[in-house]
Amino acid sequence: MAQLWGGRFTKDTDQLAYRFNASISFDRKMYREDILGSKAHVAMLAKQGILTEDEKTQIVQQLDMILADVESGRLVIDDTYEDIHSFVEANLIDRLGDAGKKLHTGRSRNDQVALDMRLYTREEIKETDVLLKQLLETILRLMKEHIDTVMPGFTHLQKAQPITLAHHLGAYFEMFRRDRQRMSDIYKRMNYCPLGSGALAGTTYPLDREYTAELLGFYGPTLNSMDGVSDRDYLIEYLSAAATVMMHLSRFSEEIIIWNSNEYRFVELDDAYSTGSSIMPQKKNPDIAELVRGKTGRVYGALMALLTTMKGIPLAYNKDMQEDKELTFDAMDTVKGCLALFEGMLASVKFQPDIMRKSASLGFTNATDAADYLVNRGMPFRDAHGVIGQVVLYCIEKNLAIDDMSLQELKQFSDVFEEDVFAAISMETCVNKRLTVGAPGKAAMERVIEQEEHYLKEHPPLV
Ligand code: ARG
Repeated sequence: MAQLWGGRFTKDTDQLAYRFNASISFDRKMYREDILGSKAHVAMLAKQGILTEDEKTQIVQQLDMILADVESGRLVIDDTYEDIHSFVEANLIDRLGDAGKKLHTGRSRNDQVALDMRLYTREEIKETDVLLKQLLETILRLMKEHIDTVMPGFTHLQKAQPITLAHHLGAYFEMFRRDRQRMSDIYKRMNYCPLGSGALAGTTYPLDREYTAELLGFYGPTLNSMDGVSDRDYLIEYLSAAATVMMHLSRFSEEIIIWNSNEYRFVELDDAYSTGSSIMPQKKNPDIAELVRGKTGRVYGALMALLTTMKGIPLAYNKDMQEDKELTFDAMDTVKGCLALFEGMLASVKFQPDIMRKSASLGFTNATDAADYLVNRGMPFRDAHGVIGQVVLYCIEKNLAIDDMSLQELKQFSDVFEEDVFAAISMETCVNKRLTVGAPGKAAMERVIEQEEHYLKEHPPLV
């Protein structure tokens, strides 16, 4: 057992209690942040005359060496320490002796861990943003390729009206764009430095909190030391945004799974992103999409768990808060992993435009347009709706699309039909007449694609 606080104790902690309490097995992930924070703290202590320049130089040098040793594997973060903070401090003292013992002046593990977690989350938000941007780029590339690829649009998973693949993908572009905006909003709100909050009530040393905040790239210090050590809102916000990313990925995965099914065959997954069956030789399963859909649950779970952990905690720091880490780290790794894999899968998917188009024309997706045709020739809409309903019934019996009927057959239902009906209800016409902002018509899509291209250029990854 290696702990920082033995002084007022007369006997050792129970072994099980010690292990229950220790966090090194998971907070070791923050070794870089812990060292970075300590370096800034020491630089500030020296600037304020609390440490000498010489002490600062020695401590910073040794902290850098600890970092290098951990990264190279020479120094292993083992479970004998209580947490990552004790590990770094104990190693520093081993290397420096008394000078190392001054590192923790004017600091508590409460503000230290609050700082480490913020630094860690800040990087995660940036990395998530990069992955979201890559996914958006892939979606936009596919939209450009498939601006003329007609497919059925669905409501209730029933074929409804013809759209294009570009239009369908464009809906996901909007979702992931909003996800990026959420990440950047959270970043702006959380980028304040809790270091210097002490255990809960600040310190009596003349710390310069503005200075450490600046050294660490924060907009400024947090303004209440109790809140500084016990605020976990930013994690809840991050988990909420991450859960939303997963929800979007899960919906998209569900569509890929349906499109890849034997009945639809709208897409063929690349071999690199599908798996076989150990017993059924014909199988090519969409496991990656299914796993992304499945992993959504654990990210939702992390959000619920942290909300619940935080709900009854009185001010200021309480040990419950240590529970913020494992589940948040897991959610962070899950979201990043899923984004990267999903992007790879999507980029390599083979779409089947002919099958999509055929599915649109066999699904009476032009029935609304056929009714509109009659309306444009003077028939009241309700009557037109009835006529086309009968036409559809006839087609179902004969296994035809409306376009497959002859003019003569159509005229049995209404003599308003003329030769020009075929042009009016062709899939291309149905799509390209829809030109309101946000609709699938080619000219409308082209304008949106231009705006989205502009958006990507104007919004580089967060820094
Ligand atoms: N491992 C702790 C956590 O993650 C660090 C803070 C410990 N503070 C304390 N007063 N025991 O929350």
